Amino acid sequence: MIRKILVTSGLPYANGHIHIGHLVEYIQTDIWVRFQKLIGNDVTFICGDDTHGTTMMLRARSEKRTEVEIITEMHDAHLKDFNGFGIEFDFYGTTHSEENYQICTEIWNALKHNGLIEEHEIEQLYDTSAETFLADRFVKGTCPVCGKKEQFGDNCECGAHYEPTDLIDAVSTITGTKPILKKSKHLFVKIENEHKFLDQWVNSGALQPEIANYLKGQFLNSELRSWDVSRPAPYFGFEIPDSPNNYWYVWFDAPAGYIGSTLQWCKATGHDFNKLWHNNATEIHHFIGKDITYFHTLFWPTMLKVSGFTLPKKVHVHGFLTVNGEKMAKRRGTFILATTYLKYLHPDYLRYFYASKISGRVDDLDLNFDDLEGRVNADLVGNLVNLASRTAKFMQGISLSPSYPDDGGLFKRAADVSNEIAEAYEIGDYSKVIRIVMECGNRANKFIEDKTPWAISTDKNKTSELQDICTIGLNLFRQMAIYLLPILPNLKNSVEELFNSKITNWNDATKPVTGIMISPYKHLIKRVDRKAIERIIEESKQTEFVEKPAETNAESNNAVDTVDSDEILKAEPLLSEKISIDDFTKIDLRVARVVEAENVEGAKKLLRLKLSFGGSESRQVFAGIKSAYKPDELIGRLVICVANLQPRQMKFGLSEGMVVAAGLGGEEIFLIKPDNGAKPGMRLH
Ligand code: 2FM
Ligand code: ZN
Repeated sequence: MIRKILVTSGLPYANGHIHIGHLVEYIQTDIWVRFQKLIGNDVTFICGDDTHGTTMMLRARSEKRTEVEIITEMHDAHLKDFNGFGIEFDFYGTTHSEENYQICTEIWNALKHNGLIEEHEIEQLYDTSAETFLADRFVKGTCPVCGKKEQFGDNCECGAHYEPTDLIDAVSTITGTKPILKKSKHLFVKIENEHKFLDQWVNSGALQPEIANYLKGQFLNSELRSWDVSRPAPYFGFEIPDSPNNYWYVWFDAPAGYIGSTLQWCKATGHDFNKLWHNNATEIHHFIGKDITYFHTLFWPTMLKVSGFTLPKKVHVHGFLTVNGEKMAKRRGTFILATTYLKYLHPDYLRYFYASKISGRVDDLDLNFDDLEGRVNADLVGNLVNLASRTAKFMQGISLSPSYPDDGGLFKRAADVSNEIAEAYEIGDYSKVIRIVMECGNRANKFIEDKTPWAISTDKNKTSELQDICTIGLNLFRQMAIYLLPILPNLKNSVEELFNSKITNWNDATKPVTGIMISPYKHLIKRVDRKAIERIIEESKQTEFVEKPAETNAESNNAVDTVDSDEILKAEPLLSEKISIDDFTKIDLRVARVVEAENVEGAKKLLRLKLSFGGSESRQVFAGIKSAYKPDELIGRLVICVANLQPRQMKFGLSEGMVVAAGLGGEEIFLIKPDNGAKPGMRLH
């Protein structure tokens, strides 16, 4: 039976570019969609940009452009990045569309008619200079529970959750000013009214067990708090039809964008909208990151149920990406944009590596480039491609054997695991898919090694034996390639070209091909170039980001520590003692180039630097930056140095200056670099 399936990935925010953290989700969804299409299901893959909210409004203000200009540009950029990674949506829409407004209105009216909307006046922090209310992420202050400074308005690193108004010494992160308290009217959805429904839905099999347990333990065991879904002007979004000057909160219209984008697609292509969103026989599958679970598993099903849209059959929740076990960070060159990666490496390497780590559970996934290199070289080059390259070369101008030869049961054995592989794809356990397929490859390669086609290739009496061996090797290769097509979509054309025959569906992996001519062998997958990885990391250290902090801590699929913009500063109250201009000019701050950098024996925190100030001027400086920088990465870069500090005799030698850096110490040390054009020796004024 052909299943009718609608699949979505989370809609990426229009305020930032796609990076390798986002791709964990889009790649895994795309693999699932490609698999479903390959086995013959009727699948529609919908996504689009999540455009609304305060962040976009502030960005437009600071760039002196309209929001629409920005979101149009970002829409194109996102699509280009997705295309580059072979992520093939049936439609990529936007939440800022007429269709989405229509869907939001429909859901809104249903919520109202069912008595789920209530109105309250609430008091919130308000930034009088930016003239805007401050969402949680735009306020910082001291945690009311543990006293830790610099905490956001919703929760603290200590784990405490609170209201922004509870913060001590709160400051607006937009302008650095102290916010005031201001009252405004807000509209709320009483999701408690649907508590019973949610209890059932959470147990319906739509969720991974750990997610269902989390919801039961954290939310469903007590009364559900009403959800604040409106924001007073100014706000970039849709004005609520019957509530002038109030806008739907971005998290109201974002998931509605799944439906709104489907409607855009249906209008453009003539597909039947009702068959998708008003049809219990259609399976809706959402793929999301764990940080946005509660929006998709409490609010969203409530909105859908009350307004009569198809409920999700499954919400597939995944974990975050870490790189080398740590959060992505620009400083380490691990905050890698899709565009930067694509300049240097093949997209299928990342697709394959992610697939090898994805198990269908909520666990985080670690990207380590040594692992990626090892994995791709061993599995794809050493196992899969090896099978083809070692056999195709003996088949030039020769066809495959007229019937499939005796291979000791290898092809059948691999065909027999077709269902097991399909089941692993179905549940999102791609690491299992790869395990099984690579085992098939190991057996196949062993067969070829035992038969040594290269040894008999010159023996005229053994041409038929050679043809049989190569027919087997090539068929086993083709079988593996078909199993891996959802992961490695770029392989399809090459395999079809090599075999002069189309791959139409999954079952092609269970039927050997015979009697056909083999095309000249062209290289299929190259080994990973180590230098390319180094370039990606180096370039990622230099990349400028336009991404702004989003409105909730459920901002992105990743915990990223480098996306604070230059406009929206994390304000730290400026309380230091005032100095005169004369005091300042006493400090001789200079641009300098690091010409030597090395560890200092016996010193835990120090690096020894030799700084050049141009010409023959140079100084030795001991800098306490070892926890954040490796000597190698410093050589050649520019820094700022206090050049007239009294030299200090240290245990390790004379320190003749000080390199300036921002941050709190530990790993949080950021050296300052001047803009391009500055030269060693230039003075700072
Ligand atoms: O977390 C995010 O990146 C959101 N932009 C996801 C939205 S998903 C859906 F609800 F639109
Ligand atoms: Zn705290």
